[in-house]
Amino acid sequence: MALRVRVCLLSEVIPDELNEFKVKGVTWPVIVTIAEGQMFACAGVCPHEDVPLINGLLHEKTLVCGAHFYGFNLVTGRCTHDATLELRRYPITLVGDEVWVDLI
Ligand code: FES
Repeated sequence: MALRVRVCLLSEVIPDELNEFKVKGVTWPVIVTIAEGQMFACAGVCPHEDVPLINGLLHEKTLVCGAHFYGFNLVTGRCTHDATLELRRYPITLVGDEVWVDLI
């Protein structure tokens, strides 16, 4: 069963930017973004070498890690450079103006 946690307010999510939020009791931060009008949430660490993804870039619906520039599709989680890597993504639920995610 997934653990649903409150991450931020909707007003704190700047579209087309990576927004990082610390979640109480969770070791890694959560990144929330709105890319091409669609909201995504994912782990804030790169599955390649555990580097913080907040230093990366957003290109359309791809999050590009700032360390080695691997791209991760926010829709599928697939890495554009290494098919064995997958970005951990979280389902989002809006509760009023609060953004909640299911940590899987
Ligand atoms: S640590 Fe992210 S691509 Fe290498």
